[in-house]
Amino acid sequence: MSGLVTVREGVTDLLVPEGFSRRGPGTRTGEVFYNRQMEFGRDISVIFGREVFRDGQRILDGLAATGARGLRMANECGVRADFELNDRDLRAAVLMKENAELNSLGHVKIHCRDLRALLAEEQFDYIDIDPFGSPADFIDAAVQSCRNKGTVGFAATDTAPLYGTYPKTSARRYGALSMRSPFGHETGLRILVGFAVREAAKHDRGIEPLLCYHADHYFRCYLRVVNGAGRADASLQILGHAGFDGRSLERWTSEEKGKKMEAGPIWLGPLMAKDILNTMRATGDLGTSPRCAKTIETWREESGMPPLFYVMDELAKKTKLSPPKLSDFVDFLKDQGAKASRTHFDPKGLKTNISAKDLIREYKAFAKRKR
Ligand SMILES: C[S@@+](CC[C@H](N)C(=O)[O-])C[C@H]1O[C@@H](n2cnc3c(N)ncnc32)[C@H](O)[C@@H]1O
Repeated sequence: MSGLVTVREGVTDLLVPEGFSRRGPGTRTGEVFYNRQMEFGRDISVIFGREVFRDGQRILDGLAATGARGLRMANECGVRADFELNDRDLRAAVLMKENAELNSLGHVKIHCRDLRALLAEEQFDYIDIDPFGSPADFIDAAVQSCRNKGTVGFAATDTAPLYGTYPKTSARRYGALSMRSPFGHETGLRILVGFAVREAAKHDRGIEPLLCYHADHYFRCYLRVVNGAGRADASLQILGHAGFDGRSLERWTSEEKGKKMEAGPIWLGPLMAKDILNTMRATGDLGTSPRCAKTIETWREESGMPPLFYVMDELAKKTKLSPPKLSDFVDFLKDQGAKASRTHFDPKGLKTNISAKDLIREYKAFAKRKR
């Protein structure tokens, strides 16, 4: 194939189209898709795979393009599993074959199928879905094809509907209303998990989020799929709605008199599994290792915190007191006996278990003390 250059991610070499997108979320250029900016997400896929994949499993990169993610998982996760790559574009299938050989991964199986047709026929322990935009078209097929206690990993780059800019699009695509708010990134992520829960429940299967996050301009969810009508019911029980009042800064996730539930259904449970987070390691062979290490640290801090984060700017605007350093304020809240943490959703965001009213009071006390 002509017009290709070699790039290295982790310890994997990849032939990619010469004019590949170096910045931004990436565009369809008529060539096989590759976006260097997604290296962080692929590094996280490798770290995650090292925790979850086991020898002998069947692992599919369902929308593989150059094969970047699937080949890196095959090359860098350290498991002897059956790795398979799929893309319906023949040029992609040819290029991923070349990339497999370039890394002495000739045993990796290549498919050139519509992903939904492949998933209807075969079963996998891990299925990766990395679409242009929304993963909604593929989730039903993926949760059916996934083996019991296997994992479905998917990305979504249709952020405007999910953040709340286009709630009607979100309602059509995911059967859930999004809501514009300072914590729109979190409701967007929780809409995606909620959607997967409802898709899985149709097939008597439950969902356990292993790692769900927001980064740059995309969301990514890794969800364990577990058999059983009881498991499906238990997952559905964790769905709810959310509301927000911009004047009082109050957020709520349960029905109370006079409070409108605007967004949802959303997943209200944990977004990450503590045991996996605790053992994830950002090793030095990864190109974005320092960013991975920092992000994993923040995920650990915020895991177990309740839904719907606050942003320092909201508190500053409300109190007319300029924001103190975030980490100092988080420490102050903890000293006062509250639970508090930073959040990966926003560099100025924080999570806490105290009410908006109490948070505003603590903010005033702290900001005045700092003057
Ligand atoms: C965003 S790219 C994947 C990027 C890749 N995972 C990476 O990390 O570089 C999406 C790919 O999905 C493929 N695709 C889109 N719809 C498909 C379908 N229904 N079945 C199979 N492949 C599909 C496209 O040809 C494209 O190569």
